[in-house]
Amino acid sequence: MTATPVRPTEQKYEVKDLSLAPLGRQRIEWAGREMPVLRQIQERFAKETPLKGIRLVACCHITTETAHLAIALKSGGADAVLIASNPLSTQDDVAASLVADYGIPVFAQRGEDSETYLRHVQIALDHRPNIIVDDGCDVVATMVQERQAQLAELIGTTEETTTGIVRLRAMFKAGVLTFPAVNVNDADTKHFFDNRYGTGQSTLDGIIRATNILLAGKTIVVAGYGWCGKGTALRARGMGGNVIVTEIDPVRAIEAVMDGFRVVPMSEAAVHGDIFITVTGNKHVIRGEHFESMKDGAIVCNSGHFDIEIDLKALGAQATEVKDVRNFTQEYRLKNGKSVVVLGEGRLINLAAAEGHPSAVMDMSFANQALACEYLVTNKGKLEPGIHSIPVEADKEIARLKLQAMGIAIDSLTPEQIEYANSWTSGT
Ligand code: ADE
Repeated sequence: MTATPVRPTEQKYEVKDLSLAPLGRQRIEWAGREMPVLRQIQERFAKETPLKGIRLVACCHITTETAHLAIALKSGGADAVLIASNPLSTQDDVAASLVADYGIPVFAQRGEDSETYLRHVQIALDHRPNIIVDDGCDVVATMVQERQAQLAELIGTTEETTTGIVRLRAMFKAGVLTFPAVNVNDADTKHFFDNRYGTGQSTLDGIIRATNILLAGKTIVVAGYGWCGKGTALRARGMGGNVIVTEIDPVRAIEAVMDGFRVVPMSEAAVHGDIFITVTGNKHVIRGEHFESMKDGAIVCNSGHFDIEIDLKALGAQATEVKDVRNFTQEYRLKNGKSVVVLGEGRLINLAAAEGHPSAVMDMSFANQALACEYLVTNKGKLEPGIHSIPVEADKEIARLKLQAMGIAIDSLTPEQIEYANSWTSGT
């Protein structure tokens, strides 16, 4: 492992065009209307400054919603730097506004190449973070591999997404997770809503924006029936699609069957599908043999974190011609005479072709992120190395605030019910 010398961030920002800031600001303000929970946290943070003196790096999709997270973290006193967690998800107007209007350093440009992406990760690490807010675990994994000397300054990290949690678990198993990492993804107020309803809606939004096709009557294959797959399948059915689910986990497969979906192996689904959506988190879920048997004009896209789920290399090798047919839409003409259409270069279609999850769900996800940062600081030095859940009270409080903002009241237990719930003596 190499230890790169630690130096402060010299460059202040790297965005596409600062003149885009007014549009970005307008869109950030619009998103804020749907983010009342994060707003309340931001207002409290402004008064209490729980993150004062904390150097923080957030590696997230640079969207209007992330802007509100960054503003909340800055209000809490954090010296925050933002980088993109995906080359195709950056909203350049938002990046510009964060720099110009909110004074937050951002290093992100839509369409940046891998070299630039990795350089931004290094710039982020040059900031010598005490806290890393990661989405996919790239910054944390790079720090562990290349900046061991800086680990002494790290209080902990927070992780947004399932893929990142899988990587953190692998790091823990390998004995290299020597600091606390807060698992934001598994908070109830995160994955029940963001992964399910957020991915469900934004994935279809991405497909529609990229293709403008009618979903009703189409056979839509959803690969993976985790929370993202559940939401995607549910919404695809809601749009009139005939939904087929593919799975490798037997329990999830039964769930999909009992939710009313047809479950078959991908080899069979490949023959029937009009549209394919991967949300498994694993690689090469759709590969050479599947492309070969697809219908002419089948549409393939991914909504999982990394662009690994569709084997585009194999598809390229099977193709005689690749051409752009619309924005975010490429047609591969195969040697067998049929064509396969790939959306968003196999990157997460909801952020590549649309704007990611709607603000109302990111409100809860990012409320969790903000509270997770506060939790790490409050408990500095007290948390064991390893993966920690968001405290249940924080999760419940976020739900309570969300309900309140939605104007929905719920019941509470009567004293008699509390006593009953805590007793074991009375049965039938
Ligand atoms: N991940 C999915 N949707 C997102 C959004 N709107 N903002 C940030 N991260 C996201």
